[in-house]
Amino acid sequence: MGRKLHIEALRYNPLDPSSKPYMQSYHLEEHPSMTLFVALMQIRETQDPTLQFDFCCRAGICGSCGMVINGRPGLACSTQTTSLPEHITLHPLPVFKLIGDLSVDTGTWFRDVGKRIEAWVHTNTPFDENAQETRMANALATEIFELDRCIECGCCVAACGTARMREDFLGATSINRMARFHIDPRDNRGKQDFYDLIGNNDGVFGCMGLLGCEDVCPKSLPLQDQLGIMRRMLALHSVKNIIPQSLRGRLEKKCCCHEKH
Ligand code: SF4
Ligand code: SF4
Ligand code: FES
Repeated sequence: MGRKLHIEALRYNPLDPSSKPYMQSYHLEEHPSMTLFVALMQIRETQDPTLQFDFCCRAGICGSCGMVINGRPGLACSTQTTSLPEHITLHPLPVFKLIGDLSVDTGTWFRDVGKRIEAWVHTNTPFDENAQETRMANALATEIFELDRCIECGCCVAACGTARMREDFLGATSINRMARFHIDPRDNRGKQDFYDLIGNNDGVFGCMGLLGCEDVCPKSLPLQDQLGIMRRMLALHSVKNIIPQSLRGRLEKKCCCHEKH
């Protein structure tokens, strides 16, 4: 016999003017290896087909099932119910537009920040369809891939105090993405280009550095390291004309091994 779980989920339909937010209780028996996603599916199939939540891959890959689980953003499909107490409360991720109940629209937010930070390789090399693929050192390719593992689940944004206060804040996920382009030798953007995009209070200088983002990232991305690297690089760039060259060289060396000018 498994535990009796008491799951309370926020119910609200923002498209229905008569809808008022409330917490709805569901009770079910816990099975071995049950994830929160499985529990929610069971609720939907056996108790309440109207409960809204998102999922696609069920394997921590698509980033759809982010929600606030007992006060902490996380993925429903990667959360074992045994890791939680018997009483579980579920809320939709804040910051993102609410679709209904536990379902939010992360896609519009990520598309918007992707456009703002110009999240694509900017190259000066003319496209040649007959050219051979350019080889990249394995170590560098692995380093880029490490930062490219974001699944756009939105958990880091939901956990971020700055994003909660300022809707234009780009969040750790965007800074991490810029760090990925910064180390990519195919991207010909220089420091000034990065500074123009994220060297402001909506970017690296708005972050309060309290680590909420990295704490909740289900893919364990090194968000704080990348925030630190980009902030230091852009702060140095902003004062490059007023500190001596010799000191600048030393600080830049500490800041990042992949230099762009
Ligand atoms: S460290 Fe910065 S980006 Fe991360 S949660 Fe805190 S304010 Fe947000
Ligand atoms: S950085 Fe981590 S928490 Fe943030 S959106 Fe990407 S995978 Fe999710
Ligand atoms: S359903 Fe894809 S990450 Fe959870």
